[in-house]
Amino acid sequence: MKYSYQIKSLDEYKNAYKKSVEQPESFWAEIADNFLWLKKWDSVLEWNFKDPKVEWFKGAKLNITENCIDRHLKELGEKPAIIWEPNNPDERVRIVTYNRLHKRVCQVAQMLTNLGVKKGDRVCIYMGMVPELAYAILGCARIGAIHSVIFGGFSAQSIADRLNDANAQFIITCDGSYRGEKVIPLKDVIDDALVGNKTIKKVIVYTRTRTPVSMIKGRDVWWEDEMEYAEHQVEKNGIVQFPATSMDAEDPLFILYTSGSTGKPKGVVHTQAGYMVWTNYTFLNVFQYKPEQVYFCTADIGWITGHSYIVYGPLSAGATSLMFEGIPTWPDAGRFWEIVDKHKVNILYTAPTAIRSLMAHGLEHVNKHKLNSLEVLGSVGEPINEEAWQWYYKNIGKERCPIVDTWWQTENGGIMISTLAGVTPSKPSFATLPLPGVQPCLVDEHGNEILGNEVSGNLCIKFPWPGMIRTTYGDHERCRTTYFATYENMYFTGDGCLRDANGDYRITGRVDDVLNVSGHRIGTAEVENAINMHTGVVESAVVGFPHDIKGQGIYAYIIYEGKLTDEDQTRKDIMHTVSKLIGSIAKPDKIQFVKGLPKTRSGKIMRRILRKIAERETGNLGDTSALLDPSVVEDIKAGAIQ
Ligand code: PRX
Repeated sequence: MKYSYQIKSLDEYKNAYKKSVEQPESFWAEIADNFLWLKKWDSVLEWNFKDPKVEWFKGAKLNITENCIDRHLKELGEKPAIIWEPNNPDERVRIVTYNRLHKRVCQVAQMLTNLGVKKGDRVCIYMGMVPELAYAILGCARIGAIHSVIFGGFSAQSIADRLNDANAQFIITCDGSYRGEKVIPLKDVIDDALVGNKTIKKVIVYTRTRTPVSMIKGRDVWWEDEMEYAEHQVEKNGIVQFPATSMDAEDPLFILYTSGSTGKPKGVVHTQAGYMVWTNYTFLNVFQYKPEQVYFCTADIGWITGHSYIVYGPLSAGATSLMFEGIPTWPDAGRFWEIVDKHKVNILYTAPTAIRSLMAHGLEHVNKHKLNSLEVLGSVGEPINEEAWQWYYKNIGKERCPIVDTWWQTENGGIMISTLAGVTPSKPSFATLPLPGVQPCLVDEHGNEILGNEVSGNLCIKFPWPGMIRTTYGDHERCRTTYFATYENMYFTGDGCLRDANGDYRITGRVDDVLNVSGHRIGTAEVENAINMHTGVVESAVVGFPHDIKGQGIYAYIIYEGKLTDEDQTRKDIMHTVSKLIGSIAKPDKIQFVKGLPKTRSGKIMRRILRKIAERETGNLGDTSALLDPSVVEDIKAGAIQ
């Protein structure tokens, strides 16, 4: 594959950026020309942020799996597309070539068709990190079914809510998944999620852990049986075929649920053509991928990072993408480094929370490994603190590998602000410069743009980029109010940001009620709703606090009715309730029982005060005169959990 649009110098970056702003349509048309289209577009971009309506490459027809697989087969058929490293290092590694991937994806497409899945149907995928998860995603895309992957850490209730919201009819799952020493019984969780469900027609179960499962006649089928049957249909005389469905550029590709500051998670919808061009372009430019390199993104496919930078971005570029089933600390904290040496990984993309946790385990786990294949290091998911940046740079990259600190969001589809590895300068704890096509701006609370450098404000984006969110599934108004109504004619990110004297951007964290716990986005309202479901809880307020490993921890203030005979037991029970309703990732780290919450006369909780107490910054709580009962603050301060 030729990567003619890979930016190779700072000047080329500046020129590309300028062109992307001045002539966005011809800029993106030129890049899009490098893909496989069944029909070219009628117009490159139509948009307004009012409705909002964003349409890229309108009128074009394509199938993203032909771009991720078929078009590589002639040249790269025997190149590894996916290298799979299992949880247990003693288990066999699987190397999936592009030819093999093609066959498996055709089989999945056939299997889904056999089971009645049609273009536009929603297929929920709840699997561990096995290659079959990638086959499942791509199999859906091949027939135009909309995949909705749910992270394996979400509870039955969360799954039920998502199935319901997406009105899904099909599920692909595993009997269980491995995470270090633990086995997570995924099918059992699905069974719980399906109690009372009337829309699911089929559940396909892939065998991974041999955990006993219940299989309901007529509804549940084994992946292995269905795939074997499909194999005979797609392979004739040694030739594998399953025609890819022709999709409109703006047909939905997938739904991915993400948390916001209010209510239940929303289904972010990405479409076919723009998302494909964006993930491919950003992958090639940020990581500067070269043919033959091995690229390892440690994310879970249950999150957007896995969608864009394990599956669609790398595969559309004909890259070798390493997929890892386990956790960074099992069998020991050298697991990532062992994988890097074993597979001669050249590009490593991980999260600050993983870096901090491995840092805490000490250098002896690092120093056992050579790490001399590494050329580029990446970070994503939350601001990377300077200490972690330096540790990563020195001990992992041996001061030889550029670090790309990539800022972006589920709604963005792909990387928005980042250094281009070795091409544009990097700076600790700065995402640095916007990618071509991204027009960031900082605004004050009234929506006025803050011009110039050495300023900070709320981060917005002024112009559409190909990979942006198109709608929130089933509720376009929610998309408008969440992202396009805060400031006129701009997409609001929810992040605070500063621009330094050089024009480099540094993301400072969320400015709304969204927490970022170990790189996972969690809405405070969502956690409060779960806590409030617990018997005896009258009211609760949840805020974040700085956490050494997780970045942010969850601090819950709870008004509890009646007597607390065993505070610790009640805390555990409440945490269990949160685990059941959302998943263990949303469990509070600290629970403080309080008599009252600091409220204004109109009944609004003053979270600013609660945040300061959780951050142990009680010296200056700011103006508390608007409080209905200022004495509650003293009580809360006195009982604060250290
Ligand atoms: O606050 C920002 C933070 O993560 C949020 C997006 O979360 P999510 O949609 O789950 O996507 C995570 C992976 C793309 C953002 O609003 N964030 C993400 N990357 C960075 C970051 N904050 C600072 N620096 C980053 N590199």
